[in-house]
Amino acid sequence: MENKYHHQTLMNCDKTTATKISDPYGAVISPIYQNSLFTFENWEAIETAFNDKINNAIYTRGKNPTVALVEEKIATLAHGEKAKLLASGMAAVSAGMLHFLSANDHIITLNNIYGPSISLINDFLIPKMNIEVSYVSGTDIDEIAAKIKPNTKLIYLESPSSVVFSLQDLAKISALAKQHDIATAIDNTWATPLFQKPLNLGIDLEIHSCSKYLGGHSDIVSGILIGSEKLINAIHVREYELLGAKMAPMEAWFLLRSLRTLDLRMERHQKSALKIAQFLERHPKVAKVNYPGLTSFPQYKLAKQQMSGFSGLMSFQLKTTDLTQIKTFFNGLNLFQIGVSWGGHESLIYAPAISGLKEQNPEQFKKMAISLNDMRISIGLENVEDLIADLTESLALI
Ligand SMILES: Cc1ncc(COP(=O)(O)O)c(C=O)c1O
Repeated sequence: MENKYHHQTLMNCDKTTATKISDPYGAVISPIYQNSLFTFENWEAIETAFNDKINNAIYTRGKNPTVALVEEKIATLAHGEKAKLLASGMAAVSAGMLHFLSANDHIITLNNIYGPSISLINDFLIPKMNIEVSYVSGTDIDEIAAKIKPNTKLIYLESPSSVVFSLQDLAKISALAKQHDIATAIDNTWATPLFQKPLNLGIDLEIHSCSKYLGGHSDIVSGILIGSEKLINAIHVREYELLGAKMAPMEAWFLLRSLRTLDLRMERHQKSALKIAQFLERHPKVAKVNYPGLTSFPQYKLAKQQMSGFSGLMSFQLKTTDLTQIKTFFNGLNLFQIGVSWGGHESLIYAPAISGLKEQNPEQFKKMAISLNDMRISIGLENVEDLIADLTESLALI
């Protein structure tokens, strides 16, 4: 989407968007259209609206002006033509996969995509639609090329991936996919549309959980799909409207508020995360740190090539494999709260094996290469020295 303004201006001045919300009182903040339907003067007016039902506000499950304003801002930020907000990140992931896949098709994806995205394939698409799947590491283009079959319809990526944060070469994979007429989609939640622009690298569909950095305050759950106008319109009339996981206007308005500070928050997350990753890397009780912003990260060169910044989520492996010791460290933290999500203002710790062991079958869990001593931390906006002191004290307990 063409826009002459810098993203900081776009996020903070609603006059820069084509979608305008007029308010008779001149409210400085775009108001919330908290209504389910829109009324019309007469037969002709409502009939005209139906001539372009995607772009006219008729019913909030179709189009709502508050939601549309936020969609336009995020689409512009991602260099996409159009975006569609949905009720959750998983609503976006499932709408995206269902759009490209029909019964008996084949999908290529990674061993380390977000756990419920794996479950969507293994526990829903395979038993209900007889979908075939090939799981790959994602770091080797030849491995992906070797998996392509006549019925391959989608290469589904997540870069950096969940827990281990390994990268895929987006430009190379999208070029390969185009040669074979295969669609590409990426879960770009980790990097945000600020730090990574997959559509510029040829990826067809960009997916985010807005429950993380885009929301940023741990108070909303939502997701977004971004791509060409043609693709997003096609998803709009099928997987979006018919499956019905629409975005609530109030949630969209919270997201609008969050976008004002996305740039500022990401700067702080990035700065603090790098400091903490470097601290952990040097710590004698830590075996390994997975953070693409570290110069020691095996794919650092690729990370610098395809991302313009790094967010605040990382994992590290404790040297100890003793569960009592692991729990002592985990429970000993004070500022880092224990919880599953990430990308908010608060720092969090989680051990992905807790749910991974329960949600995945043993074979799939083994492929994910996650152990009980792998700790995932989300670095919030607190003072970084306080966070380092918290980690230092808890590591001293083991
Ligand atoms: C990488 C990734 N993608 C998608 C999701 C799903 O998003 P939501 O929780 O908004 O449904 C998550 C949630 O943790 C995630 O971490």
